[in-house]
Amino acid sequence: MKLAIGSDHGGFRLKEDIKEFLAEEGFAFEDFGTRSPESVDYPDIAEKVAGAVLAGRCDKGILICGTGIGISIAANKLPGIRAALCHDTFSAKATREHNDSNILAMGERVIGFGLAREIVRTWLGTQFAGGRHAVRVGKIGELESKYISR
Ligand code: RB5
Repeated sequence: MKLAIGSDHGGFRLKEDIKEFLAEEGFAFEDFGTRSPESVDYPDIAEKVAGAVLAGRCDKGILICGTGIGISIAANKLPGIRAALCHDTFSAKATREHNDSNILAMGERVIGFGLAREIVRTWLGTQFAGGRHAVRVGKIGELESKYISR
């Protein structure tokens, strides 16, 4: 399992902390930036991380901005990406079981670093439940084919 991780300036400090956590837990990861607290545009980082997941270079991704909102909206524009914005462990578990989310998004300005680590632990440790949920996830793919022009 290799993870792609990225943030804008609003999520930079939390990204650095989550990288430390991933290393402690033995997860391989690739950092797609940003590399400093200087201002950058979150769609650029979303595209890099989501692109790495879609290309199969990484298995799943973690994206962080100030709120987690902009960067998750941007990532979800790439067909095949299911980015879930989670600020609690219940949602982190549910989105893996029900939505097979392939990117976890969080907001540094919304939650504490300790909770963020627990959310990452829960999200990475939960498997997709399949069954009726696979049918629904399949329908998300159908919506992409119907409405998103490449
Ligand atoms: C940057 O100031 C901020 O807008 C960004 O990190 C994010 O919160 C956007 O949704």
